[in-house]
Formats: sequence, C-alpha cells, structure tokens
Amino acid sequence: MKNIGVLTSGGDSAGMNAAIRAVVRAATSSNLQVYGIKRGYEGLIEGDVVQMDYASVSGIISEGGTILYSARSKGFYTKEGRKEAIRTLQKYEIEGLIVIGGDGSFRGAHELYKECGIPVIGIPGTIDNDINGTDYTIGYDTACNIALEALDNIRDTADSHGRVFLVEVMGKHAGYIALDTGIAAGAEDILIPELATDVDMVAQNLKRCFIKGKRSAVIVVAEGDDAGGAFKTAEILKSKIGRDIRVTILGHIQRGGRPTGMDRILGSWLGVAAVDILLAGQTDIMVGIISGRVVSTKLDQTWTHKKGVDSGLIRIAKLLSQ
Ligand code: F6P
Repeated sequence: MKNIGVLTSGGDSAGMNAAIRAVVRAATSSNLQVYGIKRGYEGLIEGDVVQMDYASVSGIISEGGTILYSARSKGFYTKEGRKEAIRTLQKYEIEGLIVIGGDGSFRGAHELYKECGIPVIGIPGTIDNDINGTDYTIGYDTACNIALEALDNIRDTADSHGRVFLVEVMGKHAGYIALDTGIAAGAEDILIPELATDVDMVAQNLKRCFIKGKRSAVIVVAEGDDAGGAFKTAEILKSKIGRDIRVTILGHIQRGGRPTGMDRILGSWLGVAAVDILLAGQTDIMVGIISGRVVSTKLDQTWTHKKGVDSGLIRIAKLLSQ
C-alpha cells in the first residue's frame, strides 16, 4: 500500500483534528502518502483532494472543528455520486480510506467498500456517542463539558429567580449527552429518548422537589426525547405545575470549541489504531476503545447493534435527583 485517503464527514466534533493528525503522522512514518479529502464525501465526489504531510498537521491538535471540513453529502447516497467518488480514488491511486464520522458516514464507507472493494476503516467521531463498538466517540467529552458549563450557568440564574428551566441538549436520537450532563449538573430530571417520558410524572417529581425545599429546578431534555423537545414539554408542564418555565436550547455550541484532553487522546489513539489496522490488511471495520483497549467492530454492526444507555446511570440519576 502506497497511498491512503482520510476524510471527516457528517457533524463535526472536537478532536477530529487530533485524529487527522494521528492518521497523517502514523501513515507517513510507515512511508505512506496521505491524501486529505475536503468536505467529506462531497470532496471525494468533486475531487477536492490535497496531499498531506507531517507539517500540514502541525498545531491542529488543540483546534476545534476539522481542518478537512465536513459535509452531509446527499450526492453520495446515489450510485452516480459514488461512481464519481470511485473515479477520484482511482485518479489518486488511493488504496485505503479512513473515514472519521458517525453512523451515516460509516454507512457510506460500507457502501463504497461493497461497490469497489477499497479497504475502509472507520474512526468514531460524533458528539452523540451513539456508535456501537466504542465506549466513547471523539467529541463527546468536549460536548458534555460545554453543555455542563452552560447548565451550571443556568443553575445560577434559576436559583436567583426561583425558576424552572428546561435545557435542551443535542444527541440526535440518543440520550447520552443528556444523561451524563444531567447527572453532573445535579438536574432535577433528565428526559431521554431511551425512556418514555410521562409529563405527569415529571410534574409530580418537580412538585416533590419544591416541597422538599428546592429553590430552582433544571431539567435536561435530549433533543430526541419522545415528548417532542424542550419547548413542547415546557408548554404542557407549565399548566401542570402552575409555574413559569424558561427554555434554553444549547444547540451547536456543543459541537465547537477546543477539544478536551480526553478527546485529543481518543483522537490520537484511534488515528494510530486505524492506520495500524489498515496496514494489517483489515477492512470494513471501525476502531473503538472499550474498557481501555482498541477493539475492531464490523462497520455495519456499528449502527445495526444499539449501544443502549447504562441502566446503572439511569438509577443514579433517579436516586440523586429525588
Ligand atoms: O450528529 C451530531 C449532531 O450535532 C446531532 O446531535 C444533531 O442532531 C445534528 O448533528 C445536527 O445536525 P446539523 O448540524 O446538520 O443541523
């Protein structure tokens, strides 16, 4: 193998740059030429490709976002789009492709492998942490810390005014960010898609908290929660508790910012592991870390098998909030 490609795809996440740096440095130290593909699969379709070397990844480990940029490519869903992408791979004689992204990006990589046989390796990069085959995804820790800081700030103002706040965090269809940050922020309730939300129960819990002497309440709502998001839940809840409710949507601030130490280490570790595994002749797999060890998971199992939230954490959340 002489030439490999690397791209970042889907929602960006802090620590992707650490992973790009690790891929480039590990690969060049094995005398491989690395091609960086810009804007994910869009760049692969359009031939937006740059040569990378040791120096081109200097100083990026501490930067948020991704120096290769990202996109949610619609074109890559089509056979014609993938044909163009394969042409680009052939033009640059790219013999192995490392894809840093989430489940949508892995689906794309899996299709590419099936259609042209190019070895593909996935590195889990998404703030959602919803990928089977790894304890944590790159960017999750940073997103949680950003959300936590916001939750602490909201607590200050909620306490000053004796208010109820519903704070919506990201996570797509998963409740990891909500559950972890809710526990860490001492939230009075946490609403996640993995558990059916009963707004009557939420109201009862809140009333109990106030009877026990609480001044304020902060409820963390995962964007994918089945009650329909923070604004809708607040409307229903307001009439049940007879108090005014404020809503804050944290949104994309959770995606940006400097990566935490954890995300820089995870990106570095997985970047090197991806090159090692590609050179060992493996394909159509994702590298992850489970219980402190590098683990390979077949790409399709990263989305067909659901990771599931930790029932122990749900118990802790309930026990400590009530
Ligand atoms: O998958 C990462 C994520 O930030 C989700 O948490 C969120 O639902 C989605 O991407 C937002 O996507 P976009 O930036 O395309 O609006």
